[in-house]
Amino acid sequence: MSSVLPLVRPDLRDFAGYKSARSEALRGEVWLNANESAWANPADGQGRSRRYPDPQPPALRARLAQVYGVAPEQLLVGRGSDEAIDLLVRALCVPGQDAIVVTPPVFGMYVVCARLQGARIIEVPLVDGDAGFVADLDAIREAALAQGAKLVFLCSPSNPAGSAILLDGIKALAHALEGHALVVVDEAYGEFADGASATTLLGAYANVAVLRTLSKAHALAAARIGVVIGGTELVAVLQRCQAPYPVPTPCADLALEGLSNTALEQTRERVAVVRRERERLLYALARIPGVRRVYPSQGNYLLVRFDDPDGAFRALLAAGVVVRDQRAAPQLDDALRITIGSPEQNDRVLSALNTNPTP
Ligand SMILES: Cc1ncc(COP(=O)(O)O)c(C=O)c1O
Repeated sequence: MSSVLPLVRPDLRDFAGYKSARSEALRGEVWLNANESAWANPADGQGRSRRYPDPQPPALRARLAQVYGVAPEQLLVGRGSDEAIDLLVRALCVPGQDAIVVTPPVFGMYVVCARLQGARIIEVPLVDGDAGFVADLDAIREAALAQGAKLVFLCSPSNPAGSAILLDGIKALAHALEGHALVVVDEAYGEFADGASATTLLGAYANVAVLRTLSKAHALAAARIGVVIGGTELVAVLQRCQAPYPVPTPCADLALEGLSNTALEQTRERVAVVRRERERLLYALARIPGVRRVYPSQGNYLLVRFDDPDGAFRALLAAGVVVRDQRAAPQLDDALRITIGSPEQNDRVLSALNTNPTP
């Protein structure tokens, strides 16, 4: 397995980052090294937030690693997977020189981070076919090699298209791009999907990284906890590029509680409800006049094309239901993305569209 270090920006390969007060291995009883307050804030009953947190809270890191089936050193905790995307682009792409591959229509943060970094953007559109939107892995490989991409972002399940990419395809791509590019598999919606995680490829390919988050299936979007999982070398580089104390203690505590065995059991039950509702909604929506196409989905949302998308959007709004307008996205000028809600919320979607059928 070849090292991933040559893919890191040359000027950052031995970058030490910020040495925070918490990263010093010192022992003592009276801690006066970080200009913290000697007293707790009145709102902070147990004084849990008085001191700067550990940069990678060990208990949370260990639990996340256990949940995702990897070693703690293979995983970096950050402020949502959004931060992980940003760190990857910053650590690998030399501004004004390197490039990323994206597969539009797709989640927008890959391009936002690339633009902020001054990285080129290579677009290899998803192909809209009978099975739904699929990633053209051959075209991705060709484009990445021909145009010198450092990062390839694969979104699986894809937001907003809903399709997942088979692991064999990801494996072949990682193999072809070894020494050239890092393949990042964004599994923000992995819990709702059928297939195995791309973390199963990490042992064989140093140029694979996987993104996971507590924002979706785990219902902790406001806690802002996401992870990048990859080889230990890559994780160490990314940590050195990260802000000194990225995981607030109240968020780490909440996340740890949200990953207890009892909480996980309930999360699994809710994922099962979402998967059932996803099928129910898919068939019910497809029968509504004015619905052109409902794409099969492996996520907690459905992408729907309408004859009159504006009418559908307004009908939903009039019923108090807000969905995501996708019409500005490439290939989606008639589409809305509807998140799967509770059964009652989904009924409300159906009734709004049924009582106000689009022409
Ligand atoms: C595909 C995908 N990746 C990553 C994210 C970012 O999630 P977070 O930063 O909340 O972990 C989202 C959010 O919608 C997403 O859809």
